[in-house]
Amino acid sequence: MDKKTVRDVDVSGKKVIVRCDFNVPIDDGGNITDDTRISASLPTIRYLCEGGAKVILMSHLGRPKGKVDDKYSLSPVAKRLGELLGTDVLMADDVIGEDAAKKASELAEEQIMLLENVRFHKEETENDPGFAKKLADMADIYVNDAFGAAHRAHASTAGIAKHLPAVAGFLIEKELKALGQALENPARPFTAVLGGAKVSSKIGVISNLLDRVDNLLIGGGMAYTFFKAKGLNVGKSLLEVDHIQTAVKALEDAKQKGVNLVLPSDVVVATAFNNDAKHHTVDAEGIPEQYMGLDIGDKTIGAFRDIILGSATVVWNGPMGAFEMPNFAKGTREVAEAMARCGGATIVGGGDSAAAVKRMGYADSMTHVSTGGGASLELLEGKELPGIAALMNK
Ligand code: 3PG
Repeated sequence: MDKKTVRDVDVSGKKVIVRCDFNVPIDDGGNITDDTRISASLPTIRYLCEGGAKVILMSHLGRPKGKVDDKYSLSPVAKRLGELLGTDVLMADDVIGEDAAKKASELAEEQIMLLENVRFHKEETENDPGFAKKLADMADIYVNDAFGAAHRAHASTAGIAKHLPAVAGFLIEKELKALGQALENPARPFTAVLGGAKVSSKIGVISNLLDRVDNLLIGGGMAYTFFKAKGLNVGKSLLEVDHIQTAVKALEDAKQKGVNLVLPSDVVVATAFNNDAKHHTVDAEGIPEQYMGLDIGDKTIGAFRDIILGSATVVWNGPMGAFEMPNFAKGTREVAEAMARCGGATIVGGGDSAAAVKRMGYADSMTHVSTGGGASLELLEGKELPGIAALMNK
């Protein structure tokens, strides 16, 4: 990584403001249902405390649209973080208001404070320079460790870096290492597994990966636009008519670049988007008119598994079917299992595939499960992330 990290600055006695991505799922009772992102931020926070820093944490939670809304308060995060660290985490009542400023000025070394949700101010997502400056004024050093929000050019992810020495935390370093290594210098064969509903959201990823991978396995809802591009009937399956040409081009590019692009040879079709809908498996060429494809079939699972097990690097983004419904989760589960058994480097993009891998119990068997959905997708597209670009170069 060409960016400075927390190792490159002296934090002793300094106020360090750290942008984390504490955007975690919280149920109606205020309980955090998945604290992966909080746990992932611990190494940086512990390092700063051990180095004698006064630590000010900030994050967004959900999309409160610039208004104070208790539903989006970070209080439950402060509590959970305190439990994980085994120390009290002070919660500020506001972001750049009197309470935050007072508590920040009184912080002792090794003490930790969390500001309220930065998105309670519309200036956050507008990347307002005045708001960024007010955040910066509370501290001496800025650390960005919010990989999941690094694709956003917001005040707390990018704007603030103009006002303070700005370095990366360990989570950002780890994410960039895993995804960067796979993209820039992969052990081969290098296989990408792409799924999810839409071709339109993966165009950039497909074109970037076609220059890098040996195998590109395509499943999920997006496969049906590829089927159409090959002249197959897709019945009531998800189809992006405007992107049939995108799929045609990807098929041609793959051929020209010598990439083994594999589409499902069979799929599980159902009469409706519903777990209890009547369903059965058909060959890709035989999707009945009144049915929709909701998962990859067993022949496809076998073919994908063989390629994954024979790969030295596998990157996966997007589920193979409607995995939230048990009857259509098998393809996604089997891909996760094959990756878990693969002896090579296995990297799971954030978002739905990371959620599936966690829910199915395979997360610990992967080389890396990203904490960023949109951010990992943009890295796979080959884009520069504004929250990282803003940091100091080595
Ligand atoms: C995420 O959950 O992907 C990140 O926290 C970014 O959230 P956002 O899409 O609301 O910016």
